[in-house]
Amino acid sequence: MGDSVGQKTAPPVAPDRVADDGASFSGAVRTMFDALAPRYDSFNHWASLGLDYGWRRATVRSLKLTGSDVVLDVATGTGDLAFAAAKAARRTIGCDFATEMIRRARAKARPGDSAWFHVARAERLPYGDERFQGVTSAFAMRNVKPMLEEVLAEAFRVLEPGGRVAILEFSRPRLAPIRWGHGFYTRVLMPRVGRIVTGTSEPFEYLYRSIQEWYSPDEFADLLGAAGFTDVRYRMMGLGTVALHTGTKPTAHGGRLG
Ligand SMILES: C[S@@+](CC[C@H](N)C(=O)[O-])C[C@H]1O[C@@H](n2cnc3c(N)ncnc32)[C@H](O)[C@@H]1O
Repeated sequence: MGDSVGQKTAPPVAPDRVADDGASFSGAVRTMFDALAPRYDSFNHWASLGLDYGWRRATVRSLKLTGSDVVLDVATGTGDLAFAAAKAARRTIGCDFATEMIRRARAKARPGDSAWFHVARAERLPYGDERFQGVTSAFAMRNVKPMLEEVLAEAFRVLEPGGRVAILEFSRPRLAPIRWGHGFYTRVLMPRVGRIVTGTSEPFEYLYRSIQEWYSPDEFADLLGAAGFTDVRYRMMGLGTVALHTGTKPTAHGGRLG
């Protein structure tokens, strides 16, 4: 593969193998995704066995959007969730700090798609308060773990009171046989196939470790509650390998506006 990651540049260093501070971690995450961008979509769909399409549709449905709503997809990557949300909303903005990912998201836009893409950091969003009726994010929270409090605070700030947040993230299955199978898949198989597809196994070894170190669904629900969201719930999908958390920014009277 002519433009595989390993042949063009030095393999990216995994974010959890750099100095233990937010800035170094974040810098390594950005370098890693900029390098992965050319192969990201194909690997993503292959690695989830195509299930990611359904997970993204479920995420959009959980927002209960109307055709006049505007949605922000935080850490949008190549934009798949933003495109899915744009079908149910008036407009979607996807933002990500990896310019190569955003470049690919923009290239995927078709005439008539109401999805726009910006380069921006999740922990310092360049949008006004209460600007969006929905905020989504998929498979990104592990990658902002050192600044998770700021990222959730920003999602809360830009949401209109009554607006909903929907966050998709990997999880560790509770049932032992599924946990073992998933462990083998993510620890052994994915790094090997990842090396073949992208030229380096490092990001996929990091993926396994980051899933192991991520919060349980109950712990993450508590973090959403601590950020101010109410009516926080989650549902498990993909045999317990993925959790979809939802929550609402409260209004003075507790319901959705309008
Ligand atoms: C695993 S990818 C998920 C992309 C996309 N949401 C999806 O579902 O395919 C994680 C994304 O988070 C982005 N990201 C990580 N940290 C970020 C930060 N602090 N600000 C903005 N984007 C960030 C990365 O650049 C990457 O595109």
